[in-house]
Amino acid sequence: MNDTSIYEECSDIVDRVEGLKNRIARRKREKEKVNHLNAVLSSIRDVSRLIIKAKDPASLIGGICESLIEKRSFHNAWIVLIDQHQEITASAEAGLGDDFRKILENIQHGRMPRCCRTVLHQNRFLFTKNPPLKCTNCPVAYMYDGRGSISARLEHNGRIYGILTVSVPIAYSQDPEEHELLMDVADDIAYALHSIEVEKDRRQKEAELREARDKLELRVKERTRDLEILSSRLLNAQEAERKRIAGDLHDGIGQCLSAVKFMVETVIEQLTGKEALQEIKALDALVPLLQESSEEIRNIIMNLRPSILDDLGILATIGWFCRQFASVYSHIRLEQTIDIEEDEVPDALKTIIFRIIQEAMNNIAKYAEAEVVTLYLGKTGNALELRVQDDGCGFRGEQLMASGSPLQAFGLTGMKERVELSGGRFTILSSPGKGTRIEARWAFSCIRPF
Ligand SMILES: Nc1ncnc2c1ncn2[C@@H]1O[C@H](COP(=O)(O)OP(=O)(O)O)[C@@H](O)[C@H]1O
Ligand SMILES: [Mg+2]
Repeated sequence: MNDTSIYEECSDIVDRVEGLKNRIARRKREKEKVNHLNAVLSSIRDVSRLIIKAKDPASLIGGICESLIEKRSFHNAWIVLIDQHQEITASAEAGLGDDFRKILENIQHGRMPRCCRTVLHQNRFLFTKNPPLKCTNCPVAYMYDGRGSISARLEHNGRIYGILTVSVPIAYSQDPEEHELLMDVADDIAYALHSIEVEKDRRQKEAELREARDKLELRVKERTRDLEILSSRLLNAQEAERKRIAGDLHDGIGQCLSAVKFMVETVIEQLTGKEALQEIKALDALVPLLQESSEEIRNIIMNLRPSILDDLGILATIGWFCRQFASVYSHIRLEQTIDIEEDEVPDALKTIIFRIIQEAMNNIAKYAEAEVVTLYLGKTGNALELRVQDDGCGFRGEQLMASGSPLQAFGLTGMKERVELSGGRFTILSSPGKGTRIEARWAFSCIRPF
């Protein structure tokens, strides 16, 4: 082998070694890139988890910065959120430490770093190969020595939320794959911020609605209470007025008629045996008329306010009322059960019980065409119960009460109102052809005078 061929062989070996070294270096770079991309993907997975759980912007961006550097995919990461007036609303960093505050101070004083300016006002995305050289007025540029930076605008539906900046190994700062991944992260963060805002808005509106509803409910309660007070005053006034009219009728016309009848009878007595047959006949005819008028007046007085109620109590009044009813409506069989003592009926309920019986029985007489009526007043457990039931034609009771017009059912509404104002529960059970049952029930502990 001559010198020339030895030289050629050596140079061939050197070339082959060189080629091998290059291939090994390329393989190493490719492996590093794969490792880096895996780390980035793992960080992105963590970010996605955070985004799903996100409740408020500050903790979201804090968690994201930590995740982005945790897997060593990026050396440092920071996020600044701004409002429409470019005021900082929240910020977070990982890997920068105290110096990050200087960036915030600069932004607050109108000295935006280059990356922020560009990303917020020009391109959605910016990569810088050598920040210490390019970003001369940035207080943290020195921390990017030997690395590149990538910044992305956080934007969703045209609303700019802020900026995300990460520091990457210099070799990947220009890598399109890296840029795409970072843009995806930025989009996801912006979407999460948007969702938090929407949710916050929804919660606020919900709270406002709840507040408005509570206020309205309170007003309705107050108004209802006012109306209840008014109602009880009216019922009390009505009761007092009835008593007064009954008293006036009794003491006025009632007494007067009795006196006239007595006088007529006296005159008849005096004329008897004298020659005044004509006069006696005329006066005699007056007596039954005066008698009838007296009874009529008595009935009116009793209906207005039976004095027996004040003098002898509710049980005697019910007895009297039932006897009256049975004598007038003799075709109706009246079965009455009283299962309570007089002193067990609270005074506050006596007039109310009488008014309900009076109205219910008058309704039966007017509308029911009933054959049998049962009346019950008694104690069941710790409550007082009143029931008036008939086997008559019935009516659409609940419908009538639900129609909301008290004018259509003045009597029924009055009964209900009296029962409820005194702390009881009122029920009408009636349907056409099935008779009617009126029920009032007062738990003893809830009875209240009105
Ligand atoms: N026991 C009953 N049987 C059949 N219909 C009744 C009975 N009680 C009430 N009603 C019906 O309910 C309506 C309302 O009764 P109410 O409120 O007492 O008013 P009013 O007696 O002034 O008509 C009556 O017009 C009648 O049609
Ligand atoms: Mg009626």
